[in-house]
Amino acid sequence: MDFSREKAWSVLTEHVGDMALRKHCVAVEIAMRAYAEKFGEDPEYWGAVGLLHDIDFDKFPDEHPRHAAELLAPYGYDRQFADDIMAHSPDWAPERTRLQKTLVAVDPLTGFILACALVRPDKSLDNLELKSILKKMKDNSFSRAIKREWIIDSAQALGVGLEEHMEFVRTALAEAVKTPLYRAARLVG
Ligand SMILES: [Fe+2]
Repeated sequence: MDFSREKAWSVLTEHVGDMALRKHCVAVEIAMRAYAEKFGEDPEYWGAVGLLHDIDFDKFPDEHPRHAAELLAPYGYDRQFADDIMAHSPDWAPERTRLQKTLVAVDPLTGFILACALVRPDKSLDNLELKSILKKMKDNSFSRAIKREWIIDSAQALGVGLEEHMEFVRTALAEAVKTPLYRAARLVG
């Protein structure tokens, strides 16, 4: 089966028109790839799950991510792949696999870290310090849509320390945006 980035990207752009949502999907892809490498898993597969995890959001914002399977099936993605995406629904009942827990954990955190970088004068992920991310976690007026308990609980479910998780994802994003592929995504402007 073809889990290549090239294919996943073309499917994403067919179904997700919103540029901010595409950027979010790319950020989640980057973090998924980094965790796959850390865990000795397949970065291509984990990255494709990240890139396509919000595939049904434009069409079914209220029922997301329950329509992922039907949107992905015509492209040859199998049920396991669709389940790996649909498992980031808050009401997913089965025990999540490590990949699925990772998706739940990086989904809110990537957005939060990018938001922290974007309010810096230099918009730099390199210069964004852990203590400043932690400070923003306590500032309820900042990035209000991202519930802090999503970040905290999902890291715990994955079995990673919160600070270590933040630093890992920040580093993954900071390194990725220096590469030609991800520089083009303009995650931090
Ligand atoms: Fe998402």
